[in-house]
Amino acid sequence: MRKPIIAGNWKMNKLAAEGARFLMDIREKVPEEGRVETVVCAPFIHLPFLSEAARDFPVSIGAQNMHHEESGAFTGEVSPAMLSDLLISHVIIGHSERRQYFNETDETVNQKTHAAFEHGITPIVCVGESLEQRENNETMDFVESQVVKGLEGLSEEQVKDVVLAYEPIWAIGTGKTASSEQANEVCTHIRKVIEKTFSKEAAEAVRIQYGGSVKPETIEELLSMSDIDGALVGGASLKEESFLKLVEAGA
Ligand code: G3P
Repeated sequence: MRKPIIAGNWKMNKLAAEGARFLMDIREKVPEEGRVETVVCAPFIHLPFLSEAARDFPVSIGAQNMHHEESGAFTGEVSPAMLSDLLISHVIIGHSERRQYFNETDETVNQKTHAAFEHGITPIVCVGESLEQRENNETMDFVESQVVKGLEGLSEEQVKDVVLAYEPIWAIGTGKTASSEQANEVCTHIRKVIEKTFSKEAAEAVRIQYGGSVKPETIEELLSMSDIDGALVGGASLKEESFLKLVEAGA
């Protein structure tokens, strides 16, 4: 049985005080760790405080990106060691917005995924097709390529610990959620790719989230699907009430 994982991706939102207040509001209302894994992925400026404030509560704090190098002349970047030094437990890698605006590629996704494991950080690796690719029936091949290239060189045990997030680009921030059947069809294909590329055990263990306009109204049905183990949520994770509803649905 795979433990559900609900992760909020704040993207570039919340000033320092707003982020602090959010965590103080939710940390005693979140279900215990054993029922659902709750993750808040915040902008870098929030991480030192959130990590400290969440320490004794069942809320994990994640980053939304990181560099793969240990240190060096990479102005504006944050290293894996800097995140693990703050006890940051998760990192989103390869979000479509980073692929679109910041030259993230399958190769850099792979480098960052390896670096995350080297520092004890759980990677949430994002994959997903554009509307044009879906309309051209290219979804399965495209997502398969992202998964294979993104996870290349990982051990079977590492793949079991990866979190994959299927986020169709056309559903992100649009209010247009993929239907549960559409989402599950791709997640099932991703799991088959993991079995073919790594092992049946890895395929059965790896957790696959859906992301793309997830709301409290849609989360239950999504989580009822055979191959969806959680959600990576943008807009609906910004408000305490809706985020808690999403987490409760996963518990
Ligand atoms: O990473 C999650 C994000 O891409 C989904 O955003 O606002 O459609 O839930 P949203």
